[in-house]
Amino acid sequence: MTELKILVSGAGKMGQQVAAAVAAEPGMSAVGFVDGLAAAGNLSGLPVASDAAGAIEALHPDVIIDFSNAAWTPGLARIAIEHGVRLVVGTTGLPDDFVPWLSAATSQRKTGAVVAANFAIGAVLMMHFARQAARFFDNAEIIELHHDQKVDSPSGTAKTTAELMRGAREAPFTHPVSEKEPLPGARGAEYGGIAIHSVRLPGLVAHQEVIFGGLGQTLTIRHDTTGRDSFMPGVVAAAREVMKLDHLVVGLDELFGLR
Ligand SMILES: NC(=O)c1ccc[n+]([C@@H]2O[C@H](COP(=O)([O-])OP(=O)(O)OC[C@H]3O[C@@H](n4cnc5c(N)ncnc54)[C@H](O)[C@@H]3O)[C@@H](O)[C@H]2O)c1
Repeated sequence: MTELKILVSGAGKMGQQVAAAVAAEPGMSAVGFVDGLAAAGNLSGLPVASDAAGAIEALHPDVIIDFSNAAWTPGLARIAIEHGVRLVVGTTGLPDDFVPWLSAATSQRKTGAVVAANFAIGAVLMMHFARQAARFFDNAEIIELHHDQKVDSPSGTAKTTAELMRGAREAPFTHPVSEKEPLPGARGAEYGGIAIHSVRLPGLVAHQEVIFGGLGQTLTIRHDTTGRDSFMPGVVAAAREVMKLDHLVVGLDELFGLR
């Protein structure tokens, strides 16, 4: 079997972790970084380029794994598709027209791409299991816990989980309202009858609990992320799977056949 050659787009925190994960994986190797804002040079023994077309022509990658910036990813994707290179995209905050464009471009070229907002397999399974449980319980609450530097509350994962849970049922969940609320907001935010509580503390990374309540029982589904390495098994799996695809797949749940 020939080695999969991976070019890493974005030489930041995620990009460097991806290059290390790929280097440790049998059957694949990192051939370099491309980063629109980086000076040409070397990083962890790999060449760094700022020109995507030049890097592709020099290094002949099979797959580009992109964890960079939404301002860079669409241009990079266009160049990758033009050169017949497969794409795994983890960058978030992408423009709304990006996924429809990539879907059309990959179908036309009969080539593979994966775009996923969350590469942590456990988080994807947590959402999947929560969606499965949603129709069996009328009450559910979500507690998400993150480090104190997080800019948004609730987390995107909590909001997506609530949307998936609500979408799995005909009626909204039952949302008990307290008769008295001496401290307003004590019941958290609410979506589709699901109360969502955001905890922000130094020392936390990214954690979420989905608690279902029914007659004489509760069911708790919990996922804990302890570091950026949590994303790596999903990224590496996507790099392998993208070689078998002839179209765009959005989300690890679709890639793993969970939908
Ligand atoms: N999908 C997932 O599971 C997942 C997980 C973690 C992070 N992310 C996303 O990955 C991306 C990178 O995260 P990070 O923590 O490595 O960030 P980072 O800031 O450490 O690295 C970003 C890299 O992108 C480059 N960059 C920034 N703006 C650019 C521009 N305009 N043009 C070209 N290059 C540019 C920077 O030079 C830098 O090397 C973010 O969008 C983040 O939300 C996704």
